[in-house]
This record gives sequence, C-alpha cells and structure tokens, in this order.
Amino acid sequence: MWKFKNPIRHAIAETSWPTADEAERSLLFQPVRIGPLELESRTWVPAMVPWRATDDGFVTQDNLDWYRRFAAGRPGALVVEATGVRDIPSGPLLRIGHDRFLPGLKQLVQTVKEASGGHSKLFIQIIDFLSVKRRPEREKYFERFLELSERHRHALAEVTNDNRWLSASETEVRNYLNAATDEIIEYVLSRRELESLRFGYRESVTDVDLPHVRDLPKVLPEIFAAAALRARAAGFDGVELHYAHAYTMAGFLSALNDRSDGYGGPRQNRVRLPLEVYRAVRKQVGDDYVVGVRYLADEVIAGGNRIDDAEYFGIEFARAGFDFLSLSKGGKFEDAQQPKVGQAVYPYTGQSGYECMPTVLSDEAGPFGRSVPLVAAIKQAVNRAGFKTPVVATGGISTFEQAESILQNRQADIVGFARQALADPDWFVKVKLGRGAEVRRCTYTNYCEALDQAHRPVTCKLWDRADLDEPGIATVDEGRRRLLAPEWKA
Ligand SMILES: Cc1cc2nc3c(=O)[nH]c(=O)nc-3n(C[C@H](O)[C@H](O)[C@H](O)COP(=O)(O)O)c2cc1C
Ligand code: SF4
Repeated sequence: MWKFKNPIRHAIAETSWPTADEAERSLLFQPVRIGPLELESRTWVPAMVPWRATDDGFVTQDNLDWYRRFAAGRPGALVVEATGVRDIPSGPLLRIGHDRFLPGLKQLVQTVKEASGGHSKLFIQIIDFLSVKRRPEREKYFERFLELSERHRHALAEVTNDNRWLSASETEVRNYLNAATDEIIEYVLSRRELESLRFGYRESVTDVDLPHVRDLPKVLPEIFAAAALRARAAGFDGVELHYAHAYTMAGFLSALNDRSDGYGGPRQNRVRLPLEVYRAVRKQVGDDYVVGVRYLADEVIAGGNRIDDAEYFGIEFARAGFDFLSLSKGGKFEDAQQPKVGQAVYPYTGQSGYECMPTVLSDEAGPFGRSVPLVAAIKQAVNRAGFKTPVVATGGISTFEQAESILQNRQADIVGFARQALADPDWFVKVKLGRGAEVRRCTYTNYCEALDQAHRPVTCKLWDRADLDEPGIATVDEGRRRLLAPEWKA
C-alpha cells in the first residue's frame, strides 16, 4: 500500500451529536429531489463490493443479508455494488448482463424495500471493465505468453551485437530472454510487454489494435442500455453508471486516453462515449427513471484528469440530463503497486488508491472529507452553468457535524458514507433518533479494503469478531468472522 513519506497519524476526533429535534431540523435529514423521485434524507451509502455473489455473478443469501443490514439503518439512498453489464465470467461479482440474473436482483430489491420500510431508495451501480490477468511467473511469460516477433529478434541482435539472434530457434531466443538482465529485457520488450511481465496483462481503452477494444464505442451503449432496462425491470429506483476508478468508462474520460477515432484526445472527444452510453440508457429506461453517474473529481495520476476536467464533465453530464453526480477520487491502475507473482494488480495500492479510500495515516490535510473542496468546485461549476443536478460528496465523512457543515456551506447536496456505514449501518437511524453517541465510529485503517484486495468477503474489524457465539449468525473463515454487524436494539 502506498504511504506518505512522513505520515501523520490523525485521531478520530471527538464530536457532538444532535438531539432528535436538532437532527429533525438539520439539512442532512431534509428531503432532496433526484430527477423524478425524492430521497427522504440527504444521506447516501455509496457502492461497496462485499465479495458475496456466486462465481457466476448471481445474488446469494449473503448478498441479501448484506443489503438488508444496510437498509435497516434507513439511509436516504443505498447503492448496490458495481454490477457487471456484460454476460461474461467475472468471478464473484454481481452481474446484470442477462435476464437470468433478474430473479435474484428482484429479490434484492424486495429485501431492501422491506427492511427499510420503504424509507431508502435503492440504486444499482453498473460497470464495464476490461481484462486484467494475474502477474505471470517469469519463465511462463517467456515460454508461453510473449508473442515472439521479428521486432524482438532485431532488438536482441542490436543490444547484444550478435546477428545470430535473427535466425536462432524460438526456444533459444525464449531461453535467452528468460535468463537475460533487466537492461536487455527493457531494450527488447515494448512498454506494454514489460508491463505484462511485471504487473500481468492488462487491457486499456487505448489498445485499439485489439478489435474488441477498438469497437467499444459501437457496443457499449447498447450493453449498458440493456443492463439499465433490466435494473428497472428488477424494481431498482435508478441506475448509477460507473464512470470512476480503473474501469472502462473512466478510461475513456481519462486525459491519458489518446484514441484517434474521435473518442480520445480533447475533453469533448473523451466525454463522447460516456454521453452516448447515457443517451442509450435514457432512451431505454425513459425520462421518469433515475440515471446518475459516479466519476472522478481528480484521477490523481501523472497526466490524468484534474479538477478542471471534472468540472467540464460535470457540466456536460448535467446538460445531458443525468439525475445526480456522485464524486469519487483516484483508484487507478496506472500508479498501482506491483502485485506478487500469481496475483492481479489492484487499483487502490498507489497514491490514487489512497485518495480513493484515505486512511488516518495521512498528510496534514488528514483523511476526513479531503475531497470536499473538489466536490464543491464541481457543484459550483455545474450550478453556475445553470443546472441544479444534485452532487454527492463522499470520502472520510463520518460525523453529523461534518456532514451538516458540508450541506450548510453548499459544498454538496447529499453526503455519502461508505466505510462509516460499513462500521455501523445504523448510523442514520441512530443520529436521527438523537442517539449519535451510540455510533460505532470507523477508524479509517482499511482492514475492510485489505479484504476487498484479497477478494475475501468484506467485513469490519469493529464488529466481525463480536458475539461469535450468537445463535444462527452467518460466519466465514471457520467461524472466526461474522458476516454482518450485530443488530442494534433501538
Ligand atoms: C470494500 C469496499 C468496496 C468498494 N466498492 C466500490 C464499488 O463497487 N464502486 C465504487 O464506486 N466504489 C467502491 N468503493 C469506494 C467507496 O464507495 C467510497 O468511495 C470510498 O470508500 C470512500 O468513501 P468513505 O471514506 O466514506 O469510505 C468501495 C470501498 C470499499 C471500502
Ligand atoms: S474495517 Fe476499519 S476502515 Fe473498514 S469500516 Fe471498519 S473501521 Fe472502518
């Protein structure tokens, strides 16, 4: 995990909680309109992948229980984890790329409606991602994966000053490269081949030599639109298009996208496919359905998008008709740490990953609401352009005081609580009842994120070992971790 050079350990500051009357009168607990519907409060649980789906992408009982637990806390809105739009194997991540996923998704909707008593709106985040493979063993890479060409032979002949390589057998060349120094390898392999060797093969939207990547603008609008229609059929209150972090649509928005087919280069080209996808979705689901977007206020990578890009995209998204803008930050592959052999690169291990899920080991600014100034700038730009599209701020927000001040200062319209909701799904109901002092405060040390990185069921360290002998509870790791936060008796 990336760390600051001289990190400062920030304390989880004391805070004062409102009485029930104060909460009732606060902005946080006032309704807010999102396109055709109203949220009962300005509280929001953003998408969090819990690693509970089946290997085929179906909803499990554990998924139902996970969302039931969040719904019991009655946030204004709850966003279901990133759910794949395609009908392709993608491990235990939810999928919505075929009608066979509908029965499970319908059950999920039903579960949340019942558990929140209809008080929380339910959105689903829909995502497309490109292929990422595990880092290979060096021998295997040179034996099997490297597609040997004349280019490699010429480079090898040049760097070793030995023309024998132009006609040597393939096995000889492969064996030589396998044993060669870094200097030789770096001379012979292309940048992409080196990356595949050191990090694992990974596709990006700029790999236009790959026909399926070249054709993304042709296929994605319809794939997203079909998925969104399924979300509506399943009963979700809306969809959130995932244009953030390390995935396909964020790749199109990125300043690093230099495609020359009209979908890369200047900002107006980079936003073209994201808008085409939006329009296709809107056409399918109609105007009376919530379609929002999650995207990055800053990519936090060299040469990546900065706040001026994010302001521009925010205005274009609002102009197109998105019903909300939910901002995140970072979470990119470009600065991720090298994975161990046999593991896949994880886009939350570099500085951009830190900014996505900041911890208490921070710089002077600390982890609490550190993207709020960026979100505020985006909101102001969108409002100045004449749009009222609600903006969701997330990142290190855990107290009522903090959330209320963001709203009072018009820095955002809605406040997202991801890890704090995981630490205590009852945050919302506790604070509303004037019992904020009973909130289990997130410590922002990212035990949950480490589980996500290891593709293990996500839990919180503050409760996963509590009351393990409670009858009937679901556990993992031979009963050493409970899967759900203990019930709170109001
Ligand atoms: C375990 C875990 C899984 C996450 N999965 C997603 C996801 O599926 N989609 C997404 O946009 N963000 C995801 N995030 C990021 C959160 O939505 C949120 O932006 C981030 O945790 C920062 O907010 P916080 O400080 O309130 O936790 C995930 C975060 C965690 C901790
Ligand atoms: S595991 Fe740590 S960072 Fe994650 S929700 Fe719990 S307290 Fe917060």
